[in-house]
Amino acid sequence: MEKAIEITSLEFEYEKDSKVFSDLSLSIQKGEYVTLLGHNGSGKSTLARLIIGLLEAKSGKIEVFGKELNEENIYAIRSNVGIIFQNPDNQFIGSTVADDIAFGLENHQVPHDEMDSIIKKYASLVGMEDFLDKEPTSLSGGQKQRVAIAGVLAMHPSLIIMDESTSMLDPRGKKEIRDVVKKLRNENKDLTILSITHDVEEAFDSDRIIVISNGKIMFNDVPNKIFEHEKELLNIKLDIPFVYKLRNGLKTKGIDIDSLDEKEMVRLLCQ
Ligand SMILES: Nc1ncnc2c1ncn2[C@@H]1O[C@H](COP(=O)(O)OP(=O)(O)OP(=O)(O)O)[C@@H](O)[C@H]1O
Ligand SMILES: [Mg+2]
Repeated sequence: MEKAIEITSLEFEYEKDSKVFSDLSLSIQKGEYVTLLGHNGSGKSTLARLIIGLLEAKSGKIEVFGKELNEENIYAIRSNVGIIFQNPDNQFIGSTVADDIAFGLENHQVPHDEMDSIIKKYASLVGMEDFLDKEPTSLSGGQKQRVAIAGVLAMHPSLIIMDESTSMLDPRGKKEIRDVVKKLRNENKDLTILSITHDVEEAFDSDRIIVISNGKIMFNDVPNKIFEHEKELLNIKLDIPFVYKLRNGLKTKGIDIDSLDEKEMVRLLCQ
């Protein structure tokens, strides 16, 4: 299987003798949707910046779609990768929402006569079609995040890195974006997503969750399995979905709800 991201023995520090990563290795397959979970300061955004070459590793190797990240390949790699930054204010270049979405398209040599319809399509996908003439700075945090998402999606990247990209959206907005992502993945099975989020519902949509703590991988498994580690996750200040607390709690009492049918489950819950 083709790899989208392959990280080997990555070492990185912002300041001398305070390593964010000392020996990190991980790989993500093409077409996979992976969530990165970890407490504040665990290194998630740093990893995102390393993958697109905004930061340089001290040692180790990063490959994106089989190309090693280095000076020679960096622009080829970036043309395939769309990143939505944690703080949407860092994302804007254009003076209007439409300009902003257009900027990325211009970089991708999209013909001018096609641009308008692409801009409208992606703006309406994220519910921002009525804001195309507005200044990005005049938008609310959640609206900025929506525009940032539209800008990245419009470029059809092969890899999308979403760093808390829906953190400021209301629950309905979050659900809308989750549905957009699902739709895009259905349309393009090769689309790879690396999502950094604290939203567990969002994490559930992914194929795999990687939990990092202190720059090391703690768990790396399908969502269902990850939330069995309630104690360990709570220890590193991560919460787990209520249904999993319930499931784990019942398990300690000898009740395995995975093996129950619906009727039995209702009977037990009523007790
Ligand atoms: N520009 C910087 N200069 C120095 N240290 C930094 C810088 N940015 C982040 N750090 C440090 O690197 C570590 C990892 O930070 P990072 O932003 O990657 O964490 P994160 O997992 O994204 O956290 P959060 O959930 O809060 O977004 C933290 O200890 C942080 O203090
Ligand atoms: Mg971060």
